Amino acid sequence: MSEYINIENEGRIKIIRINRPKKKNALDLAMYSALAQALRDADEDNNTRVSYLTGVDDAFCSGNDINDFLKNPPTGESSPVLQFINVIINAQKPIVAAVNGIAVGIGTTMLLHCDLVYASDAAQFQLPFVNIGLCPEAGSTYILSALMGHQKISELLLLGDRFSAEQAESFGIVNKVVAADELETIAMKSARRISEQPPGATQTSKALLRIAMRNQVVEASQRELSSFIPMLNGEEAKEALTAFMEKRKPDFSRF
Ligand code: COA
Repeated sequence: MSEYINIENEGRIKIIRINRPKKKNALDLAMYSALAQALRDADEDNNTRVSYLTGVDDAFCSGNDINDFLKNPPTGESSPVLQFINVIINAQKPIVAAVNGIAVGIGTTMLLHCDLVYASDAAQFQLPFVNIGLCPEAGSTYILSALMGHQKISELLLLGDRFSAEQAESFGIVNKVVAADELETIAMKSARRISEQPPGATQTSKALLRIAMRNQVVEASQRELSSFIPMLNGEEAKEALTAFMEKRKPDFSRF
């Protein structure tokens, strides 16, 4: 489906690797579709008990492909990005994420829908939605406010600075920070352990944990999208996204 999403089954673990290092693992439409399909397959396949999500080199995921944001912006529920958000919010089987490097935008917010998140000590996180004339997505306004409180998440969103793996752990986004060369071993060990647990019990427990806040997350995601989609077609985003492609600083002085 996409040459940049590599899927491999190891025992009962579905390994999903984002592999577009030249663009720091930015997600284009085909990649969102492939990710969504991999998670659907994991849910439907009796041989899969857990998914394992990771990146390559120094990137976990640099967010939505900025070029696609300009040329193929999401318009509604059928857009691949919205399909992916919907599938990951509703995934039935546990997802273990190994954040090997930079995780930006949806590269960070997708982690809120994973179950165990390990990060390399070299990983960095960023929620630069405001910086590019947008607002958060994937139900993250609800989950992040609940995790870290209004002031802290406001700082991360309104200033849009990068934060470290240790900070991500202190905010509750990450379970554990580990040395870069141990990340895969440690995260895969947990995935293997989950794959050996009774599957009915792991899936029921995940469902019970998630259902407690599912409605609020879905409502938040819908609210966010009703702002996000028009903002993407707005002048602030156009200036920010064009500036990124032109490798210059955006100028918001005229707004
Ligand atoms: N969309 C499209 N291309 C992207 C991208 C993205 N989200 N992120 C990185 N790239 C591309 C760069 O344009 C560059 O392409 P080029 O080699 O053709 O010039 C290449 O990937 C390498 O990126 P670069 O910026 O040189 O690497 P870096 O290590 O200095 O910085 C990031 C990495 C991820 C911090 C930086 O690229 C970045 O901020 N990207 C945008 C992130 C973003 O705003 N995402 C959307 C969030 S909603």
